[in-house]
Amino acid sequence: MKIAFSLNGERVTAEAPPTRTLLEWLREERRLTGTKEGCNEGDCGACTVMVTDERGARALNACILFLPQLQGKAVRTIEGIAGPDGTLHPVQQAMIRHHGSQCGFCTPGFVVSMAVAHLNGERDWDSALAGNLCRCTGYAPILRAAEAAAAEPVPDWMQDRPPRAEEADVPTGAGAAGGAVCLPASADDLAAWYDANPDAILIGGATDVGLWVTKGLRDLPKLAFLHRARDLARIEERNGRLWIGAGATMTEVLEVVRGRFPSWAGLIRRYGSMQVRNAATIGGNIANGSPIGDNPPVLIALGAVLHLRRGNTRRSMPIEDFFLDYGRQDRQPGEFVEGVDLPLQAPGLRVWKLSKRFDQDISAVCGAFDLRVEGGTVTAARVAFGGMAGIPKRARSVETALIGRPWAEDTIAAAEAALAEDFQPISDMRASAGYRMQAAGGMLRRYWLESQGLSLSVREVTP
Ligand SMILES: Cc1cc2nc3c(=O)[nH]c(=O)nc-3n(C[C@H](O)[C@H](O)[C@H](O)COP(=O)(O)OP(=O)(O)OC[C@H]3O[C@@H](n4cnc5c(N)ncnc54)[C@H](O)[C@@H]3O)c2cc1C
Ligand code: FES
Ligand code: FES
Repeated sequence: MKIAFSLNGERVTAEAPPTRTLLEWLREERRLTGTKEGCNEGDCGACTVMVTDERGARALNACILFLPQLQGKAVRTIEGIAGPDGTLHPVQQAMIRHHGSQCGFCTPGFVVSMAVAHLNGERDWDSALAGNLCRCTGYAPILRAAEAAAAEPVPDWMQDRPPRAEEADVPTGAGAAGGAVCLPASADDLAAWYDANPDAILIGGATDVGLWVTKGLRDLPKLAFLHRARDLARIEERNGRLWIGAGATMTEVLEVVRGRFPSWAGLIRRYGSMQVRNAATIGGNIANGSPIGDNPPVLIALGAVLHLRRGNTRRSMPIEDFFLDYGRQDRQPGEFVEGVDLPLQAPGLRVWKLSKRFDQDISAVCGAFDLRVEGGTVTAARVAFGGMAGIPKRARSVETALIGRPWAEDTIAAAEAALAEDFQPISDMRASAGYRMQAAGGMLRRYWLESQGLSLSVREVTP
């Protein structure tokens, strides 16, 4: 199929199968080898590129970005970060001055992430650069370079304009094995096409599906890319609840939950990396049914309602009912996730993610608690965990042990004991069963201790 976009300021057309990654295409077809392949699974940031569309400029991992995701957008690689006359970008100059590079393999990815942050006025370098790994320089000189460049003006050539005229000219084409590819412009278009093609694979941000191709070497004959259906990505108040459309990226969700649910925002800040959050959608995070996805426990604790659609038929359910068993969800062929709705606020919500690394790591255990205590008694409790079962799961016995009981240490101890009725976790490379049980109980205890005024930040360094 033919995909039209702008590359380093020049209009280009790529003719390639729809599961060709941008990284492969850049390196093999265009010989733009500055963009590096490290992990080929979204973890290292060596392949970072800047992608601009009507939502602004974002850093993305080219290794898990399929070419159709770029239709009508502007891409800037490391080769386009210096000016057309060779003038270095301020972050490149700062990297040289502050000795931010040794072997140099990671450097193009860092420079692109830094240039996007510089363009967007981002100053939280930990967030902006957590998805870029460096094995030799150490991060201090790189962070010093980012800070030093921050006050410099944004060079003109960084202001990309996507080729809008071509956006209307949407390609259709054959899938990898001769099947169909669809880039629906709206949820209605998607509903009609998917109803007629229920064996197709939907692609939100491709942060899961990308790996099916790069690591699983799978052929995906029939595909629908959802990113053009902007009505599927709306976040808005509807009937006194917060609606989050399935196509909203984790970056977009973070913006909205920051003021309403600070604890959830803290979790999303640790979800993958900037590059992953800029691509991953909340719909993909729910639909994949992963037992260690970070949003489902939070959504269960919040009492979110999941909305599914097939053709013009819609149905909804409490989100916990969607997860039936490991790898099995209550979703029919041709049915897709349209969105979730949840309360506008939840002052009692606390969410904790335990993983081996603070940034860019998958949860060993993720706990979400929404409790209400009135007059010293627990009057409402919704508790859910990820990483404790084959699905993200509500802890009903724990809730029963809390509701109607005094908000006191004895009640917490009884609720901790009730965890064994709700969960029999497994041991795997992330954590042992024993650790998981203890950690889940520890989170509940932490909720109690924090309510008693104890601050329990376990981070050695607080920015
Ligand atoms: C480096 C890296 C770090 C990660 N870190 C985290 C993390 O910290 N926490 C975490 O929870 N996850 C993490 N993930 C996993 C992944 O980012 C999430 O599961 C993500 O939300 C998937 O969303 P997506 O839009 O990219 O899904 P895709 O890959 O596009 O799709 C995933 C699945 O959902 C289906 N799908 C997508 N949209 C819909 C829809 N609207 N309706 C029905 N089905 C749909 C697809 O067909 C596919 O089966 C990470 C992944 C990578 C590569
Ligand atoms: S090559 Fe590692 S994130 Fe793309
Ligand atoms: S300079 Fe060698 S990996 Fe970063």
